[in-house]
Amino acid sequence: MLVVAGSLLSAIQMLHAQDGKGAAGPAEHSNLADFVHRAPPQPTEIWLRAAGGRIYDNWWDALDRRKPEGTHPAYPGAGKRTGANTWRCVECHGWDYNGKDGLYGSGERYTGIKGIRGAVGRDVNRIAALLRAEPHSYKRELINDEEVQRVAIFVSRGQDNADRLIDLKTGTARGDPVRGAGLFQTTCAACHGFDGRALDWGAAKEPAYVGTEANKFPHEVLHKIRNAHPGVVMINLRGFPLQDAIDVLAFARTLPSK
Ligand code: HEC
Ligand code: HEC
Repeated sequence: MLVVAGSLLSAIQMLHAQDGKGAAGPAEHSNLADFVHRAPPQPTEIWLRAAGGRIYDNWWDALDRRKPEGTHPAYPGAGKRTGANTWRCVECHGWDYNGKDGLYGSGERYTGIKGIRGAVGRDVNRIAALLRAEPHSYKRELINDEEVQRVAIFVSRGQDNADRLIDLKTGTARGDPVRGAGLFQTTCAACHGFDGRALDWGAAKEPAYVGTEANKFPHEVLHKIRNAHPGVVMINLRGFPLQDAIDVLAFARTLPSK
């Protein structure tokens, strides 16, 4: 078992080394790279929703494209962000999908733009057309037609109603941490460790572990649990009942932040 875990971890590290500029490692030629960046020959509805969720999060990492340059032309002057991040759906519409009416109603990530909850159930082709037109103007070189369909499927049929799952004021996840512990120990822990600290994506002095993130940004972590983190080998719980994801989140909030 250790051998399997070790080779999985080194494959993950190789994929990381490729982020943008690094030399291509053997993982690029393996089925793990396919899992991260390619579509299965017959994509299922479950896969499409999660893959669309990763595009919503960060399409260039999800699709292995070059980072866009400059600030998105539709990013409002009132917003505080600049550069590539302003091309991410999440940057304008929020981790709770509520835009200005939710998490991004004030503070660092305020944009004044509405959320995408109103588009739940909307015709997928209409959403796809919206992403090609102004103000979005996503060109085919950035996100191709098939990929635009994916993110439109996520918008129409894959959004969770975060308001019902997480208390906006306190961040409390409305789940069962005891049940979540069982799910975490048997899935997430393979890569993140039993205490969530095996992977650290923070800056030198400020570690970022599953526990850190789950306490600070529960909506973001729920999105990652349901869709996976784009551009890396990570599983997601999209194929399982929503309650599983919210239970994992409730448990993740009990993990150490430091
Ligand atoms: C730079 C900011 C920005 C980014 C990035 C962005 N959008 Fe939008 N989006 C907008 C604006 C502005 C509107 C129009 C809002 C309005 O009508 O008030 C909008 C509207 C929408 C709507 C319609 C909402 C409704 O209720 O009718 C959907 C769906 C949507 N965006 C999805 C996406 C998706 C998916 C992505 C990523 C592929 C994305 N957006 C990226 C700014 C952005
Ligand atoms: C196969 C390995 C693997 C599994 C299983 C896995 N992850 Fe991950 N996860 C990763 C990798 C790799 C990253 C990227 C870390 C980085 O950016 O350095 C990541 C990133 C994350 C992030 C951080 C995203 C961010 O940057 O904000 C969270 C939160 C997370 N995982 C939670 C979970 C949870 C909860 C589970 C179980 C449902 C899980 N992961 C299962 C490999 C995995």
